[in-house]
Amino acid sequence: MKITIKNLTKIFPSRSKKGDEVVAVNDMCLEIPSGKLVGLLGPSGCGKSTTLFMLSGLENPTSGHILFEDQDVTTLAPERRGIGLVFQNYALYPHMTVEQNIMFPLVNMRMPKEEAKARALDAAKLVQIEDLMARKPSQLSGGQQQRVAIARALVKMPNVLLLDEPLSNLDARLRLQTREEIKRIQRETGITTVFVTHDQEEAMSICDIMVVMKLGVVQQVGAPQKIYDNPSNMFVANFLGTPPINIFKGEIVNGKLIIGGEVVLEKPELEDQAVFVGIRPEGFIYDENGRFTLNTDHIEVMGRDKTVVSTHPNSTKDTVRSIIDSDIALPEEAKQLKFNLKPNKVFLFNAETEERIY
Ligand SMILES: Nc1ncnc2c1ncn2[C@@H]1O[C@H](COP(=O)(O)OP(=O)(O)OP(=O)(O)O)[C@@H](O)[C@H]1O
Ligand SMILES: [Mg+2]
Repeated sequence: MKITIKNLTKIFPSRSKKGDEVVAVNDMCLEIPSGKLVGLLGPSGCGKSTTLFMLSGLENPTSGHILFEDQDVTTLAPERRGIGLVFQNYALYPHMTVEQNIMFPLVNMRMPKEEAKARALDAAKLVQIEDLMARKPSQLSGGQQQRVAIARALVKMPNVLLLDEPLSNLDARLRLQTREEIKRIQRETGITTVFVTHDQEEAMSICDIMVVMKLGVVQQVGAPQKIYDNPSNMFVANFLGTPPINIFKGEIVNGKLIIGGEVVLEKPELEDQAVFVGIRPEGFIYDENGRFTLNTDHIEVMGRDKTVVSTHPNSTKDTVRSIIDSDIALPEEAKQLKFNLKPNKVFLFNAETEERIY
């Protein structure tokens, strides 16, 4: 099911007389191709859940349109949209068994019991909980409860699956496992899926398409790796990647990029101007004759690679993190280390608009 979002806006009225209204989603335009897993990503309050609620019909847009294929569903009731929904707190009915929980949407639509049972079993098999059908939710682990919630969303065979932070209650390992499972289920069923998260790593790892939002406004849409390699502005560059990108104040003078008095790269195609320079942690190459000097604080050895933790007077953050292959020997106890930069890991942003200029 292809989803088209046209100029979608949601404004919540102010809660007090003096307060301002909240533009939760601001003129969003988005095309979600059929069968894709799309991630809505952004910090708390950026409008992810509001977008999902409007897709589900639980919230009405202030303006704009939502189309499922060619049908305008903007004002269609939730139960008529053919969607499956999993919320952050996936409240299962505690007094019902797993089977009854999964069957609930079908019983609600008065499907004959035998058929509902068979369908519930199919959905349970998909998320591999068919052995747990007789248990109550309190007898399940967090991850198992999560899967029951997903089975319940899938049992109606929805055209669209909407997931709002479905993994947020799980511990790190279960989270990893369950997100892979969601990816597998999504692939197997081919259901167009919208997945809300504020965890960039989670979004990067499972989404076909990522939508990065800030304050209700879509910042960038694309394949995760593409956005990582080509962020459209400083916010997006900052939001993706662990450890995060390092940002420095710099300037272009006579075609050279200068940070703190050092010429660190040749950038002949740009006019003289002040810039913000984003350098990914993996963009540093250790070189004792390098052009870029960092004041080394300490080195963290992490198996595959080392993280050099340093400071730099022009950095906008307290620490600069550079990742170096663990095979590369670094002088112990060095107060300063010199680096060269990988040009494709260096981004330049306009110092005022913070839009990417290189
Ligand atoms: N019912 C409401 N009434 C008024 N304001 C609301 C309402 N629901 C959400 N908002 C506001 O709209 C903005 C977007 O909220 P939303 O829940 O969509 O954010 P989110 O991206 O899902 O955040 P989180 O990651 O914290 O879940 C926030 O500023 C929020 O306070
Ligand atoms: Mg939310």
